[in-house]
Amino acid sequence: MAEIVHQPKVLLVTGGAGFIGSHVVRRWVTRHPEVRVINLDALTYAGNLANLKDIEDAPNHRFVRMDIGDTDAVAQLLREEKVDTVMHLAAESHVDRSISGPMAFLETNIMGTASLLSACRTVWTEQGGFEGKRFHHVSTDEVYGSLGEEGFFTEDTAYDPRSPYSSSKAASDHIVRAWHHTYGLPIVLSNCSNNYGSFQFPEKLIPLFIRNAVQKKPLPVYGQGVNVRDWLWVEDHASALEVIITCGADGRTYNIGGENEWKNIDLIRLMCRQLDEKLDRSAGETEQLITYVQDRAGHDMRYAIDATRLREELGWRPSITFEEGLGKTIDWYLDNGDWLDEVTSGAYRDYYDNQYGNR
Ligand code: NAD
Ligand code: TYD
Repeated sequence: MAEIVHQPKVLLVTGGAGFIGSHVVRRWVTRHPEVRVINLDALTYAGNLANLKDIEDAPNHRFVRMDIGDTDAVAQLLREEKVDTVMHLAAESHVDRSISGPMAFLETNIMGTASLLSACRTVWTEQGGFEGKRFHHVSTDEVYGSLGEEGFFTEDTAYDPRSPYSSSKAASDHIVRAWHHTYGLPIVLSNCSNNYGSFQFPEKLIPLFIRNAVQKKPLPVYGQGVNVRDWLWVEDHASALEVIITCGADGRTYNIGGENEWKNIDLIRLMCRQLDEKLDRSAGETEQLITYVQDRAGHDMRYAIDATRLREELGWRPSITFEEGLGKTIDWYLDNGDWLDEVTSGAYRDYYDNQYGNR
């Protein structure tokens, strides 16, 4: 790993009850007992304390239910806990939801981020300045738009977001940079490709398809299934975030990705083959559930990350292959039916019944 330039003492993670945030919190709580981890999350449909059961009693972990948009409450928490480092993951994160209800995305991702930055600036200024402080904004490669068959997103690729989700994340990236350039707030920024792994809410492709496959429900492939995504194991994202927050250069952006592109239909067929084996089904049985449905509006064709900067400047590498990570992920969902039942009660059912029917 590269040289450490920032050592968190009190780390505030926003969105720490969500998919990636819960892995980030678990990593810091278990590997860094000397760091106090404050986990701030509003517990929307996507945030679940069930994601944190194994660490809820850890002495260096405190969970606080709070909205990032509540500037005064956040400022008070920053003062009370003497927070020196913020890793900001709280967001509305699902593209399909951003199409059916964009306003919540603008509210949380844009205004919420601005509110959080304001609280940090106010409190850190009161405390004598920004020395020893750092704000890490966790973002997505979707801000760069959609690629054709060739090429990769680098940190210099022009922003070209196309969905309400990606445009709200692009706006938040710009706002974070504006607080750095205008007020001198110390920041780092990262843009990551699609994550997969345990604790992902079953509305995103991989956990939704595993759940539906187990229940022998249709697997709804958008359009022809030819869109391409670049998949990274969530624990490798969490390790990259640790490297960036501790070793990244002030004001710098790092792309994170696993050089692991898959056309949706090829990934879905691989999942079906692994599920046939793990569920003792005959070869080809799960694939029968594939159902082509209407394409997503404005569906981005291809995402692919060039992670050269992160690799060469900070020495980060992904730790496992996709086949291995996907196998572990499927096993986790098969072994954690109770978790799936818990997170898919209530609001999830309302949403799916209203938006898509019972698929
Ligand atoms: P998620 O939807 O699983 O979790 C989001 C969390 O934020 C939830 O726990 C939710 O309760 C919380 N939250 C939402 N609104 C809030 C608010 N107003 N105040 C406080 N908490 C609030 O999302 P995720 O997939 O874990 O993504 C986390 C971050 O990483 C997001 O910023 C997302 O844009 C980014 N990202 C995600 C991916 C991916 O593949 N999932 C890839 C790259 C970047
Ligand atoms: P998703 O997991 O929603 O992530 P993102 O849209 O942020 O990339 O979707 C991954 C890909 O899978 C994307 O091309 C859309 C497609 N998809 C389906 O074909 N069917 C589905 O039911 C879902 C949720 C996604």
